[in-house]
Amino acid sequence: MHRRKARISRRTPANSSTVKVELRHIHKRFGNVHANDDVSLTVEAGTIHGLLGENGAGKSTLVKILSGFISRDSGEIVLDGRPAHIQSPADALRYGIGMLHQDPLDFPPLTAIENFMAGSPTTPALLNVRAAERNFRALCRQFNFDLDPHARVSDLTVGERQQLEIVRLLANGAGTLILDEPTTGISATQKTLLFDALRRLAQEGKSIIFVSHKLEDVEALCDCVTVMRRGRVVGELNLRANGAGRAHGDWPAGERFDVAARIVEMMFGRELAMPVKPAIHQDETALVLEGLLLRSDRLEMHIGHLAVRRGEVIGIAGLEGSGQQLFLLTCAGLEHPAAGSIYVSGRNLTRQPYSAFVKAGVCYLPADRLREGLISGLSIQEHVALRMPSRGIFINRAAAAQEAERAIATFNIRGRPDTAVEQLSGGNQQRTQLALMPSPLNVLLMEHPTRGLDIESTLWVWQQLIARCNQGTAILFASSDLDEIVQYSDRVIVFSGGRISPPIAAAALTADSLGQMIGGRF
Ligand SMILES: Nc1ncnc2c1ncn2[C@@H]1O[C@H](COP(=O)(O)OP(=O)(O)OP(=O)(O)O)[C@@H](O)[C@H]1O
Ligand SMILES: [Mg+2]
Repeated sequence: MHRRKARISRRTPANSSTVKVELRHIHKRFGNVHANDDVSLTVEAGTIHGLLGENGAGKSTLVKILSGFISRDSGEIVLDGRPAHIQSPADALRYGIGMLHQDPLDFPPLTAIENFMAGSPTTPALLNVRAAERNFRALCRQFNFDLDPHARVSDLTVGERQQLEIVRLLANGAGTLILDEPTTGISATQKTLLFDALRRLAQEGKSIIFVSHKLEDVEALCDCVTVMRRGRVVGELNLRANGAGRAHGDWPAGERFDVAARIVEMMFGRELAMPVKPAIHQDETALVLEGLLLRSDRLEMHIGHLAVRRGEVIGIAGLEGSGQQLFLLTCAGLEHPAAGSIYVSGRNLTRQPYSAFVKAGVCYLPADRLREGLISGLSIQEHVALRMPSRGIFINRAAAAQEAERAIATFNIRGRPDTAVEQLSGGNQQRTQLALMPSPLNVLLMEHPTRGLDIESTLWVWQQLIARCNQGTAILFASSDLDEIVQYSDRVIVFSGGRISPPIAAAALTADSLGQMIGGRF
């Protein structure tokens, strides 16, 4: 018993050494894509290092090389001045390098504690369940993570899985933590907890690499940022030059803006203009919901009356799984309400088939672009052909090719008509979805319209959406990005635990106040 205790405490985070991480002249090619082209990066021990760059810049490739998930073509990894031989994730973890993935890898059939005990490079120390559970609880307490060790991983939210992965890596002795877009899909509270945990780990001397598209997050958290573009490092910025560990709120407003502008310029080679949503000047309604009752196996929700005007943007906020999707599917005619009525442009479409909604100018863009929005294996041109009115069973190939070329040019898609959609980057998949939307549209329903997109693509997508609004399309969109909701919505509806708030003017909201409402305070 005594011996076992000693072995476990040796592995607690406070005892792991601090490490300076250097990547030197890393090269990696995928076919003819030079994903990492002579990339060098140094992360000082005890710092949080941001890694930024457009979609496809090579960020994930670089951190996967460091964490052993993919092998480099050439270049060196040096830890505290000594070359490290990393060929696999297990190798990386032996050097204390652990990574949280952009698309989380976990073991859903297991419980949290089983998952916590799995994957350890030297398992015996953690084999004793009770000792492991004590260690688990202690780590969770340290970071204020409220995790039930016996909950099934498949029942955990994205944020909770992330917390579980952090404590698992720490218990396995990680001294370097890599997080690839960790704030996508987690709640505001979970983000605060995550950032507090990362700051604390950096103070303990750990090195942290934080990959993100969100400048606010990078500014709030990072000591230093490296910017990548087309496989190369194009710049580095020390965000704490005038005082180590200075918090976000301490930056003078003007200076903060300059930092963001400089980073954007490094990323894209120019300043980007933020599209502005003009006030709505139409009174005509596009969508009216009356006494709607929505029911799933877990939820029952009621909406008394909602009238959305042409050109209006309604943001839908709430924790993932609070009924937003059911609401959007019902508005799209893909689910039927248990009670109540739906009118599109004055026509009662209640219980009509989906095709009647499409005919009335309703379009739904799902969150999972590849699973539901686009069809894997088909090219851009084939998607265009599917959408074109067909004459009998024949598809007009020449017309489809021409139309695909036009869509690629207008929507600035990095791809060719014959490029399969799964080979496009996330930003280019979203551009393709938008290019395929019919015109004119009365109601556009979207989930996470810019999830995973870089800043330029995000601004571009909103430019297109605002152009649609100016033509009279009403937009209802769900997003976990509260800044995006406040920025682009005219009114906001909050979904929380089966309740739906009345619409609130976005002008009266901030991302913070919205975060509180999501917790049920309305
Ligand atoms: N397994 C792979 N096979 C082929 N090409 C790949 C593979 N992984 C990445 N690439 C290509 O390498 C380049 C860099 O991709 P990477 O995923 O590193 O970009 P990223 O900076 O993480 O982008 P994002 O912000 O979209 O996550 C892209 O052109 C991508 O298409
Ligand atoms: Mg990536």
